[in-house]
Amino acid sequence: MIQVRMPEKNKKTGKSPNRTVPLIERAARSLGEPEIPGTTRVTPARRGAKTAAVTPEIDRAGQDAPPPGAQPRSRAPAAPAVAATVAARARGPQPRRSRYAEIDFARLQKFGFLTPSLTRSRTMEEFRVIKRCVLQHAFQPRGESGKPGNLVMVTSAVPGEGKTFTSINLAISTALERDYTVLLIDADFSKPNILPSLGLDAKKGLIDVLEDPSLDLSEVLIRTNIDKLTVLPAGGEHALSTELLASQRMRDVVRDIARRYPDRIIIFDSPPLLSTSEPCTLAMHVGQIVFVIQADKTPQSIVREALDLIEPDTRVGLVLNRCQPQFGQPQFGYYYKR
Ligand SMILES: Nc1ncnc2c1ncn2[C@@H]1O[C@H](COP(=O)(O)OP(=O)(O)OP(=O)(O)O)[C@@H](O)[C@H]1O
Ligand SMILES: [Mg+2]
Repeated sequence: MIQVRMPEKNKKTGKSPNRTVPLIERAARSLGEPEIPGTTRVTPARRGAKTAAVTPEIDRAGQDAPPPGAQPRSRAPAAPAVAATVAARARGPQPRRSRYAEIDFARLQKFGFLTPSLTRSRTMEEFRVIKRCVLQHAFQPRGESGKPGNLVMVTSAVPGEGKTFTSINLAISTALERDYTVLLIDADFSKPNILPSLGLDAKKGLIDVLEDPSLDLSEVLIRTNIDKLTVLPAGGEHALSTELLASQRMRDVVRDIARRYPDRIIIFDSPPLLSTSEPCTLAMHVGQIVFVIQADKTPQSIVREALDLIEPDTRVGLVLNRCQPQFGQPQFGYYYKR
């Protein structure tokens, strides 16, 4: 189920003490009332065996996303070292290069994720609804908070509710749109599962960019065989990841990402809000939060406690994950009723 709406504010205080209640109540009600207009549920998708395929390759200079339809270039034959150096000097400083890696779509599908070739499935339809809600608010003029709506954080109250599953499927679904490109960021430093889930590998990522100001973002981005999808890995382990996320450098990097890619949807796969202070720090930067709740598992009180940590001016959408399909519930079409 997803419900994307700004909680009503108290006009005097500017705050909304009860702001989470309608959201929670709706989430809870929907367990028994799947027909609530404007809501959707994410049903469990099929799972499968593990295999991995990675094809790292250096590609177009200075750009992290190829135009639609572009194929990765093969490397040029090696030139004599001296000639190459002279030629490079003559060209002057070169733009930094992003890596290219291939996602194994068959593997992705086995694990229940969306793929570009999948045209019609329950998961696809459900994520279309979630995507529409997110896109609707992604490029609206910024409100009082000034936080960009195209920065979208996926989080939950407690671990294991489906954040990474939601982040990846939302990213793929959005990347299949004609008009949008997507940057998927693994911001869960303690459980960086984006790359393993996609069957990719990388040594450096966001944490390294935060730690080393000389490292440019484009050096750690990974372009993929989904033309409009670029991935920013979490990077190496770091004892002070919370402090790095709270640092001025993080604010600068997020601002840089928002400025560099104003036309791009940026999705942060994040830790659960009640586990560490990292996601609360990240939440301060983003304009939208997709809040995942595992159906029949997470108590309302826990969900409410987590939602209370989010600033009132941040747009919050709820996704009720792993709902069991109910008898008589139409699979498609119903979700578009609003
Ligand atoms: N709707 C779904 N259908 C099928 N599998 C799902 C669904 N939601 C989640 N899963 C699977 O459940 C497991 C846990 O999900 P996921 O890793 O997305 O949770 P998480 O919230 O990111 O966990 P963590 O807090 O540990 O990072 C994964 O194996 C994921 O593929
Ligand atoms: Mg995760």
